[in-house]
Amino acid sequence: MSAPRLRLGVNVDHIATVRNARGGALPDPVRGALLAIEAGADGITAHLREDRRHIRDEDIARLMASISKPLNFEMATTDEMIAIALKTKPHAACLVPEKRSERTTEGGLDVIGGHDHVKQATAQLKAAGIRVSLFIEPSIAALEAAHSIGAPVVELHTGSWCEAVSEGAGQADHEFERIKTAAAKAAELGIECHAGHGLDYATAQQVAALPQIIELNIGHFLMGESLFMGLPEAIRTMRRAMDKGRAGA
Ligand code: PXP
Repeated sequence: MSAPRLRLGVNVDHIATVRNARGGALPDPVRGALLAIEAGADGITAHLREDRRHIRDEDIARLMASISKPLNFEMATTDEMIAIALKTKPHAACLVPEKRSERTTEGGLDVIGGHDHVKQATAQLKAAGIRVSLFIEPSIAALEAAHSIGAPVVELHTGSWCEAVSEGAGQADHEFERIKTAAAKAAELGIECHAGHGLDYATAQQVAALPQIIELNIGHFLMGESLFMGLPEAIRTMRRAMDKGRAGA
């Protein structure tokens, strides 16, 4: 049986990062989202952080009103974010850990230590018809916890692997094996498997060969590339890399 089609979710956070560096309204992440969809994105991802360092509340409202593809709302499991998600009702919510001092989401959600809290948040969001995904480390223990929480979807954190690849570090193969094993475990548990963080063309192509993974969420690299070739061309190039990787699956 051939692998299912791999979806591309484009994270538009860093269009807002550039906007906020100057204040004002430009560049507009909603314009970026519309362009990304035109160029082949299957969905848009945006992370409303507690400190609103990039995406703001009004961006989420405008994305919901403007885009024709699903919005994947990345959020911390705080009362404030749960209330916003329940009011906004995005297609999907991806629960992520959040630390004020971090530059980006540094690790997976603590689904073991924070099991009951995450389970409660997951149940509330699911009851509102929101597809919940947990952003977790690619480990069997995290997968088992996600299963016991009742998460229909997980997103495997690919950051450690991508970092090891870019540093030419010896453990890159080991990190990839962890992702491969975790993706297989997700399928065994009946959990839909996504992946993301730190992906570029080469790593997206490699991870696309894992048939259990059906969605990649990519932001920073695409926004960097778009400075040189434009966002549509960066997305089309990413799409080709993913399709090439998938063809070998
Ligand atoms: N997926 C999740 C859950 C994330 O938190 C992020 C970063 O915001 C991404 C994917 C995208 O990572 P990157 O910007 O490194 O492509």
